[in-house]
Amino acid sequence: MNKDPKTVQEMFGKIAGRYDFMNTLMTMGQDQSWRRFVLKTANPPQNGSLLDVACGTGPMALMAAAMYPSVKITAVDFTENMVRVALGRPGCEKISWGIADGLALPFPDASFDAVTSGYLIRNVPDPLKAFQEQTRVLKPGGKVVCLDTCPPPDSIFKPAIMVHMKYVIPLLGQVVAKNRSAYEYLPDTTANFMNPRQLISLMKQAGLKNIGFRQFMFNTQTVAWGTK
Ligand SMILES: C[S@@+](CC[C@H](N)C(=O)[O-])C[C@H]1O[C@@H](n2cnc3c(N)ncnc32)[C@H](O)[C@@H]1O
Repeated sequence: MNKDPKTVQEMFGKIAGRYDFMNTLMTMGQDQSWRRFVLKTANPPQNGSLLDVACGTGPMALMAAAMYPSVKITAVDFTENMVRVALGRPGCEKISWGIADGLALPFPDASFDAVTSGYLIRNVPDPLKAFQEQTRVLKPGGKVVCLDTCPPPDSIFKPAIMVHMKYVIPLLGQVVAKNRSAYEYLPDTTANFMNPRQLISLMKQAGLKNIGFRQFMFNTQTVAWGTK
């Protein structure tokens, strides 16, 4: 499993066109409810600002713009093709889009009232740096909230989840996105990813306080948050 930024960029660049449809299939349409929870937790103030890092095709940013019409939404990703898809979606004109690396955000310290990310942390070679950058650009009192897929904990559901991740998702990737290897990468990165406790300990190391997390979908989807 290669988390070299160029390889990750190329992979997302190839699947950008089918990314949203694949997400809906893989999560049985539930991914949007987890993003809604992220945004409710981020809770930016009226007329405030929110940054979505690794925005991809824009599902989090577009939902943020709909939920918080008075908030200035900025969304960045380092894969141009993903942002290009976002730029064709209804409502995209309400958001400031940009190309940027989540490990070196091009914003001054304390720029935003809230910072969100969906499925970024699993893809970066240095997750602590990603949280440090998000904390740096956050205003004191604001929240960093992240959504990611963690390895399934031991339970009676684990064998079925493993079959879904190891066989069903790559097959869907092959048939729907015409890219099996990209959808083999997902289970690989998930299996080797942190559990929620490790994730929040990293957020603590990045300087966040009042940390918490909640899990969804057989405890495979984690939303974790902390306050600056
Ligand atoms: C699985 S997609 C998630 C997209 C979106 N956040 C969502 O919720 O569906 C992961 C995204 O992370 C982006 N990404 C990975 N590493 C990044 C980095 N270092 N800086 C910025 N974006 C990154 C990829 O380009 C891709 O668009």
